[in-house]
Amino acid sequence: MKTATLASAFFAAMLFLFLPSGASAKGMSGKALFQKNCSDCHVNGGNIINPAYTLHKKDRQKHGVKTVNDIVHIMRHPGPGMHVFTKQMVPDKDAKKIARYILKTFK
Ligand code: HEC
Repeated sequence: MKTATLASAFFAAMLFLFLPSGASAKGMSGKALFQKNCSDCHVNGGNIINPAYTLHKKDRQKHGVKTVNDIVHIMRHPGPGMHVFTKQMVPDKDAKKIARYILKTFK
């Protein structure tokens, strides 16, 4: 019995250690999550693929992207050139952190 408990504790620890430091890692800031998931295309809040769709307020407002939920919606249902971020890749909690970071950073 004791060995089994130890063994499962060991495996749990191994699992924890080898989990990829994915987007769902606890405690990542909105900024860190943005840099990990979005900044390849949205360098400094820009857009290297379609420059009309930057994350700056001027462009966002033209496209009706105003709230945290608007941004999360785009992550789940993006336009051409941006890939989908599923809940598995970026859970709602992290998606909202990213959205809040965008709203306060790119004005
Ligand atoms: C592979 C490149 C790529 C990545 C990675 C990417 N995007 Fe985008 N994003 C785009 C493109 C291209 C568009 C324009 C899509 C369109 O035409 O509707 C866009 C549009 C947007 C818009 C709308 C901007 C506007 O002015 O209307 C938001 C908001 C956005 N992306 C957020 C994100 C977030 C948040 C992430 C990370 C979780 C992300 N994007 C990752 C390419 C990318």
